[in-house]
Amino acid sequence: MRPRRFLPNGPLRGRVRVPGDKSISHRAIMLTSLAVGESRISGLLEGEDVLATAAAMRAMGAQVERTGSGEWLVHGVGVGALLQPGQALDMGNSGTSTRLLMGLIASHPIQATFVGDGSLSRRPMGRVIEPLSLMGADVTATVGGRLPLILRGASPAVPIRYRLPVASAQVKSAVLLAGLNTPGETTVVEPVPTRDHSERMLRGFGAELNVELEPDGTRVITVRGEAELRPQVIEVPGDPSSAAFFVVAALLVEGSDLTIENVGLNPTRAALFDVLRQMGGSIEEVARRDVGGEPVADLRVRHSPLRGIEVDPGVAPSMIDEFPILFVAAAMAEGRTTTSGLDELRVKESDRLAVMATALAASGARVEEREDGLVIDGTGGERLRGGANHPITTHLDHRIAMSMAVAGLVSRSGIEIDDTRPIATSFPTFEALLDGAAAEGTSA
Ligand code: S3P
Repeated sequence: MRPRRFLPNGPLRGRVRVPGDKSISHRAIMLTSLAVGESRISGLLEGEDVLATAAAMRAMGAQVERTGSGEWLVHGVGVGALLQPGQALDMGNSGTSTRLLMGLIASHPIQATFVGDGSLSRRPMGRVIEPLSLMGADVTATVGGRLPLILRGASPAVPIRYRLPVASAQVKSAVLLAGLNTPGETTVVEPVPTRDHSERMLRGFGAELNVELEPDGTRVITVRGEAELRPQVIEVPGDPSSAAFFVVAALLVEGSDLTIENVGLNPTRAALFDVLRQMGGSIEEVARRDVGGEPVADLRVRHSPLRGIEVDPGVAPSMIDEFPILFVAAAMAEGRTTTSGLDELRVKESDRLAVMATALAASGARVEEREDGLVIDGTGGERLRGGANHPITTHLDHRIAMSMAVAGLVSRSGIEIDDTRPIATSFPTFEALLDGAAAEGTSA
C-alpha cells in the first residue's frame, strides 16, 4: 500500500495537460491489432489498464511496440487471425479490457483464460457472457459470472440482434467487436446512448457500420462482419474523465485559475462540465478543435462558488465515471445536490455510492446514501473538516482515490488515502500534475 495525506494547498494555476483518453486508447490498441499492416498511435494513455490490453493483443499475435512517450507502433494480424494466447490474460483492474477482449475472442476459434485483481474479480461479467453466448461462444465463469473465467470462441459465430438491458458502452462494444468476425450483420439496439468511440473508430478503420436513430432516441447500430480493417494513424485526445479531477479542484480551491489542455468533449462523455456550469462553475472552452475525429478544447477553469442542484438521471451515462468527483463538488456547494438513477455505480471498480458516501461522511460532509444515488448537503464553500485518524479506504478504485485527494485540498486538516497505487491504472501522472499546479499557484 502507498498511503498519502492530501493537504490544503495554494490555488491551482497555470496549465496542465491530461493524458490520453482511456476508452479510446483501449480501442486504438485493439483495432490497430486487427488491421493488417502498420498503424501508429500518438497520445496513448500509458496507464496500467491500457498496458493490460496491449499485453493481451501481443499474446494473441499482434506486434505492439512503444516507440516514445505515448507513441506506439502496431502491426496487426487481421480480423479472424488472432492466435491462441499461451497463458492466462491478466486484466489487472480493467473492466474495459476484459469485456471488450471477451467480445473480440468470442468470434475467433481460440480459447482464453481471463484473470484480474480483487476489484475486477468481484465485477459482473454476465452482461457480456449473455450476448456472446447467444453468438455461440462458450464461457465457464466463476460463480456469479465473475473472473477468473475461460472463454472459447465460436467459429463461425452467429450474428445477433441484441437489445442492451443496461446502458453500457462496454457491452455494446463487446457485441460489435464480436460482430467484426461474424458472417452477416450484428446489431446492437441501444435505448439510452452511451459513449460512441467504438462506432466512430470502427468506421474510421473502414468497417461497414450503420447507426439508425429511432424517433424515441433509441440507436440501432449494425456492423457487417468478416470486416477488413485498414491500418491508421491515430491521435488520442485527452481524457475528460481525468480532466474532471482538475476541473473540480480548480472550481473548489480559492484563487484558482487553471487551464486544462486537450480535453475530449465528445457529447457522450462531457455531461459533467454542463452539470458543473449549471451549479455555477466557470468553465470556458478555448480553441475548440478536432483531434482524431473527436471534439477537443482547452478548458479554462476559475474558482467559483457552487450551488446544489438536482442532477437529471438522463445525463448519467454521459458522465458515468465522473460521479465520485461530482459528489466532492456537491459537498462544497451551497444547498442540496440530489442524484438518482445511478445503480450502475455499484458495479464499477468499487461500489462508488457506498464508498463515496462513507469517505465523504468520514471527512465531515453531510451525505445520505439512497439505493440509486446520493443526496448531499454542501458546506456552502466552507472547507470540509478533513479526515480523522483513519485513512479513506479506496477499495482498489482509482477514481475514489483521486476524488478524495481533491477533497483533501479543500479540507481543514487534510485527507489521508489508504493507497494511491490504483491511480496508475488510468492517470499515472495525476499526483505530479496536481503538485505542480499547486506549486505554480503558490509561487504566482
Ligand atoms: C467504458 C464504459 C463505461 C465506463 C468505463 C469505460 C468504455 O463502463 O464506466 O470506465 O470504455 O466503454 P460501462 O460500459 O460498464 O458503463
